[in-house]
Amino acid sequence: MDLKNQLNEIERKAEELFEKIDNLDSLEALRIEFLGKKGRITEVLKEMAKLPAEEKPLIGQAANNLKNRINNMLAEKKAELEKVLADQRLKEETIDVSLPGKKIQIGHKHPLTLVTDQIKDIFIGLGFTIAEGPEIENEYNNFEALNVPKYHPARDLQDTFYIDDDYLLRTHTSPVQIRTMAVEKPPIWIIAPGRVYRSDDLDASHSPVFHQVEGLVIDKGISFADLKGTIHSFVTAVFGENTKTRFRPSYFPFTEPSAEVDISCVICEGEGCRLCSSTGWLEVMGSGMVHPNVLEMAGIDPREYSGFAFGMGIDRITMLKYGIDDIRLLFTNDKRFLQQF
Ligand code: DAH
Repeated sequence: MDLKNQLNEIERKAEELFEKIDNLDSLEALRIEFLGKKGRITEVLKEMAKLPAEEKPLIGQAANNLKNRINNMLAEKKAELEKVLADQRLKEETIDVSLPGKKIQIGHKHPLTLVTDQIKDIFIGLGFTIAEGPEIENEYNNFEALNVPKYHPARDLQDTFYIDDDYLLRTHTSPVQIRTMAVEKPPIWIIAPGRVYRSDDLDASHSPVFHQVEGLVIDKGISFADLKGTIHSFVTAVFGENTKTRFRPSYFPFTEPSAEVDISCVICEGEGCRLCSSTGWLEVMGSGMVHPNVLEMAGIDPREYSGFAFGMGIDRITMLKYGIDDIRLLFTNDKRFLQQF
C-alpha cells in the first residue's frame, strides 16, 4: 500500500474509532495511538524518508492535514465528553427542595430547672419573693445563727465540706433566712432555692451536691395554721388536688415546734406500696415555727413577731413528680434521659 493510501486508511480508522469513544481515558489512548511518538502518523512520516524527493512535500502535506484533522476530532470529542460529565454532575448536585428538612434538636430546660421554676411560680402566687445566698457560706450563717451551737453533731466534719475554720460549702439553704433577716425588716415572705453540699457518698438517693428551697415568713400574728395552709396549697399545686398533707412532730434546732411534712404517696395514694414502704406517706420537707433564739440573734423581737420556715429537697420533689428512681440521673447529663422532659 502506498503512503497516500495508508493515510486514507488511517483517516477512515480514526473516524470509526472516535465515533465509539465514550470516556476521556479511551480518548487519551486514541490520541497516543494516532499522534504519539510511536503512533500511526509518525510511522508514516518515517516511511516518507524512503520516498523520492518530489513526492515528499505531497505526502508531508497530506500527513499534516490528517494530523490537524485528528487534532480537531480530539478537541471536539473532548468537549463533548466534558459536557456530558458536567451535565451529569449538575444533575447529581441538584437540591430537591421538597425533601423534608433535617430536624434540628432544640435544647430545653433540665427537669430540676422545670421543677424549681414551678416551685417559684407557686410561691410567687402566694405573695413570696425570691431570695438568694452564696454557696460558700460562713459558719455563723450556716450554723451559729440557726441555733446550731459549736459542738452540735450537725456540724460534724463527716457531713460538712469545710473550706477553712470560718468558711464551708453551705449544707442547706437555711442560711439565706439569716442573710434576709440581716437586711430586711418584717414582714418577710421569701423562698430561697439553690444548691447545697454534703459530704455524702453518691448512690441512688444521695448526692454530695443537691438542691433545696428554703421558705421563711416573719410577720405579726403568724401561727402554725399559716404554715399548714401554705404548705398544703403548695403540695396540691405540685402533686394534685387530692394529695393529702400530714405534719409529724420532729426536731430542728432553728424551729420550735418542728414538724416533718409528709404527703400521701404519689404512687399508691395512701394504699401502701414499695415507694412509701407500705406506709402510704412520703416525707417531703422539714418545717416549724422559727425559734425565738433565731429571731433574737437576727435582731427581731420574738414578742412582736413570729414566723414559720420550711426546707425541702428539689431533687426529691422532682423525682417524686416524674417517677425518677435514681438521683444520679439528674446529674449525669444522659441525653436519653433528659430528652424526655
Ligand atoms: N435545713 C433543713 C435541712 O437541710 C431543712 C429545714 C427544716 C429547713 C426545717 C427549715 C425548717 O427552714 O424549718 O435538713
